[in-house]
Amino acid sequence: MSQSTRRPMAAGNWKMNLTRSSARRLVDELRNLNYTLESVDILVAPPMLLVPTVVKWVSGSTVAVAAQNMHWESKGAFTGEVSAAMVREVGCTHVILGHSERRHVFGETDEWVHRKLVAALENDLVPVLCVGEKLDEREAGRTLEVVGSQLDAALEGVSSEDVLRVVVAYEPVWAIGTGKTATPSDAQEVHAFIRRHLGEGRGSETAERVRILYGGSVTPSTIAGLIVEKDIDGTLVGGASLNAETFVPIVKSSMKR
Ligand code: 13P
Repeated sequence: MSQSTRRPMAAGNWKMNLTRSSARRLVDELRNLNYTLESVDILVAPPMLLVPTVVKWVSGSTVAVAAQNMHWESKGAFTGEVSAAMVREVGCTHVILGHSERRHVFGETDEWVHRKLVAALENDLVPVLCVGEKLDEREAGRTLEVVGSQLDAALEGVSSEDVLRVVVAYEPVWAIGTGKTATPSDAQEVHAFIRRHLGEGRGSETAERVRILYGGSVTPSTIAGLIVEKDIDGTLVGGASLNAETFVPIVKSSMKR
């Protein structure tokens, strides 16, 4: 299986940003993109209240919509939460799980991420599973150990067939929102490790088919260097996904040549 069989993906995580009108302008630009849409998947992850509206706006286009989070239980007394079935019912096809802000600002554990991932798969959602080390962990030379253990915890007991439905996003915490992008070779080293790690016990054929995105201060000027790396299959973009002027060039550059 060659890397060319992995469709690149450009995903925009809006986090807690954008109003209805600014979101509308951005989505219109994405819909109007007149390029070979067959060669890149576009995903947007709006704040939850905007999700049903954005789903309507993208209908008829190939732009897909993700939730930024969900709970693992199907229903019950969980104030402020939404279930995987609810996310699916409003038209999301994907859900971001284990984002570093969920882990480090809201205290999500590896165990929670695992439960959410299983619930997402059961509800026919594609999990965009985020992993990544903090600065002190990188400086202590523990990057691969941290990323490996986040992967192991999230994917424990998940079949190879289901792993093929997961998109992994490597987002070094120190690169998120800081303007510091990992160098292409640093990112590639971790992506290659993630692919090898996914292959352990599942086979390299499976691992070769899993898409691994890079996230962390991606801009129109850094994307080109990242996307040429063998194991980088696209990007998960925060700040630069909030307006068409920066996100459209990133989408276009995410196509593998
Ligand atoms: P920035 O692109 O703003 O660094 O955010 C990356 C991110 O967290 C995407 O999920």
